[in-house]
Amino acid sequence: MPPKKITVKASGVYDVLIGSGLLDNCGEHVRTVSKAQKLGLISDDNVNSLYGDKVTKSLENAGFEVCRYVFPHGEASKNSATLIKIWDFLCENHFTRTDCLVALGGGVTGDMVGFAAASYLRGIDFVQIPTSLLAQVDSSVGGKTGIDLLGGKNLVGAFKQPILVLADIDALDTLTDEFFTDGMGEVVKYGMIKSAPLFEKLEKHTGAELRENKEVLSEIIAECVSIKRDVVEADEREKGERMLLNFGHTLGHSIEQYYSYTGISHGMAVAKGMEMITSLAEKQGLCSAGLPEKLSACLKKYDLKINVKPMPSELGEACLNDKKRSGGSINVVICSDVGESSAVKMTVEKFMEFLRQ
Ligand code: GLY
Repeated sequence: MPPKKITVKASGVYDVLIGSGLLDNCGEHVRTVSKAQKLGLISDDNVNSLYGDKVTKSLENAGFEVCRYVFPHGEASKNSATLIKIWDFLCENHFTRTDCLVALGGGVTGDMVGFAAASYLRGIDFVQIPTSLLAQVDSSVGGKTGIDLLGGKNLVGAFKQPILVLADIDALDTLTDEFFTDGMGEVVKYGMIKSAPLFEKLEKHTGAELRENKEVLSEIIAECVSIKRDVVEADEREKGERMLLNFGHTLGHSIEQYYSYTGISHGMAVAKGMEMITSLAEKQGLCSAGLPEKLSACLKKYDLKINVKPMPSELGEACLNDKKRSGGSINVVICSDVGESSAVKMTVEKFMEFLRQ
């Protein structure tokens, strides 16, 4: 079956291909969008040992010279120290503005390589080859790139669109259940903010079923990417519409910070953030009655129903460092119903009061 193709028309125009066998054939796809002589293939140690050789072979067969850089896996690597090592690697290998980077891996790799591409020589091309569910449905598309600071995640970065995204669904076979679940947090988010039909489809399955059913899984990935494409085309720089993609993220990031980014995945934290904000919204009459239960039942099907220690009111302070804050206000994304979302601007005082209910 040919891959599904979704074209994103933002500050750069590029295709997102979703299907089987894309890792084996990545060279020919990259060749259609790049005249580079040299490619910088960057991945973490886990992904490199699984797919580094296969991808290098395909890229070399398409006539590229491939220089590989591998860094230790995990969010702890997404920092300025690794970024400097990548810049130095590109410099040592004499990369020029007409060469290209390839991010092979999950969200950490895609975000960091994207930022290296945005900054090295003031910008060179890059291709995303996302291998995690989270990266395939969300982070590889839309051009948000960056690294973490000690003070918070993704605090330094740039908007830089890739020239191609290759989402090979076969790569999801090697994900642990934990990483699959992590990605499902973002998938449920897409249903909640924009698509009742997607949410209904999710209600009919479980995580284990989706792992077995690649046809349905690739449809779901394509639905998420189509929603993201529409949002990014309407608001690439997150002045309005794109804020909706942050549903559950303001409290979610604070939950991750509360647990020092260990023992709780991003998807789990976002799931809890979505639940908390929807319960608070129901108490204020801002969403349809019963929406929190509907959301919780769906999250349960994907093992995303968890208990966390902090109460919403204890997370408020950490939310204030969030990028969603502007001056004395914070934009809080609320779903009034499945598929219906809006960003509500609240003063910091009102937001704190909202969390205290
Ligand atoms: N992950 C949210 C965004 O790309 O805007």
